[in-house]
Amino acid sequence: MNNSKQLVSSLPLSGEANPTSEIRSPLPPLKRGASQNSKSIDFCPINKFDHLEFYVGNAKQSAIFYSQCFGFAIAAYQGLETGSREIASYVMEQGDIRFVLSTALSPDSPIARSVLQHGDRAAVIAFEVPDAVVAYKETTARGAVGAIAPTETEDGYGIFRYSAIQGYGDTLIKFVDRSDYQGAFAPGFQRRNVETLHATSQGLGLKAIDHVVGNVDWGDMDRWVKFFAETMGFELLVHFDDRAISTEYSALMSKVMKNSTGSIKLPINEPATGKRRSQIEEYLEYNRGPGVQHVALSTDNIIETVTKLRAAGMEFLHAPKTYYEDLAARVGHIDEPIEKLAELGILVDRDSEGYLLQIFTQPVQDRPTLFFEVIERHGAQGFGEGNFKALFEAIEREQALRGNL
Ligand code: FE2
Repeated sequence: MNNSKQLVSSLPLSGEANPTSEIRSPLPPLKRGASQNSKSIDFCPINKFDHLEFYVGNAKQSAIFYSQCFGFAIAAYQGLETGSREIASYVMEQGDIRFVLSTALSPDSPIARSVLQHGDRAAVIAFEVPDAVVAYKETTARGAVGAIAPTETEDGYGIFRYSAIQGYGDTLIKFVDRSDYQGAFAPGFQRRNVETLHATSQGLGLKAIDHVVGNVDWGDMDRWVKFFAETMGFELLVHFDDRAISTEYSALMSKVMKNSTGSIKLPINEPATGKRRSQIEEYLEYNRGPGVQHVALSTDNIIETVTKLRAAGMEFLHAPKTYYEDLAARVGHIDEPIEKLAELGILVDRDSEGYLLQIFTQPVQDRPTLFFEVIERHGAQGFGEGNFKALFEAIEREQALRGNL
């Protein structure tokens, strides 16, 4: 009944020849009621993040890391036992966050080539959309490069529709329409509901994907800002120049793009000139090109979440002790005890709308590439720009330890 092979075998990496050859089904007609007006502001409506898919060298072991150290539960699985001959994937869930960990079962798989080139990485940013056909047609009509033409797969739980376009580097931007699908994740996947040590339905209190940050090459930030604006209808939320984000040694520039509802926020970084090699350059070197730098996950209780994450073995960047000395003067009153924040290494920033608490993990693989952020917002809509300098100095200390500064 299900045709999951169609699904898994139609996940090309970007840069592959002739992505249109991946078309497995003719373009279905536009859904009734879907916007066909290319001039409407929200020509590519997005509900929310659907999932992030990570291409990894060993998904079985990664699933244990994300469950034991991060509090995710395994919700669904596909692999040899379910008839998937090319790919094994674990769907990990916590709150509204869904990660898919995928690994290749043969050296010919695009995922195997991805791991060889980039190491473990966040390879697919998937948005839940009302119509994956509209999203594909509207974005490609505006210049986006198609990666997976609109495709339908089906099993006893309904029809699952998706499409994808090329993002920065080898990242895919995927559009998922699950309005007619009630299964665990997608056709071909079997429900797992494995609850391990920390992985309950509440996990460690991580709730949602707050933002996903990309690193792009020198001089490429504005090209990708234009891409998100023109092909997807995103708006520029905020811009940080290299004067705002510089330390003694390195600098970067960043622009934050958001969709019309603000449910999706995508900061884009590029390196700027500094005395030494910036953290963005280090990323670009080890990732062999642009890609997702960090994923921020929100919580309602960062003290509890980070206490549990540390107990579970998660490693974080160290905030300098001096950071906390003038914190009260810098951010004013906050509800959380500063001693506790200092003990856990949690950073604080304030803007005109409130404050936020945040902390950054160490890279979660041996290459100094992808890392995570945990964030708790109290009104503030920023990204912790007041912390950038302290944070980057902390990152540079780690870079120096790796001999890469
Ligand atoms: Fe962030």
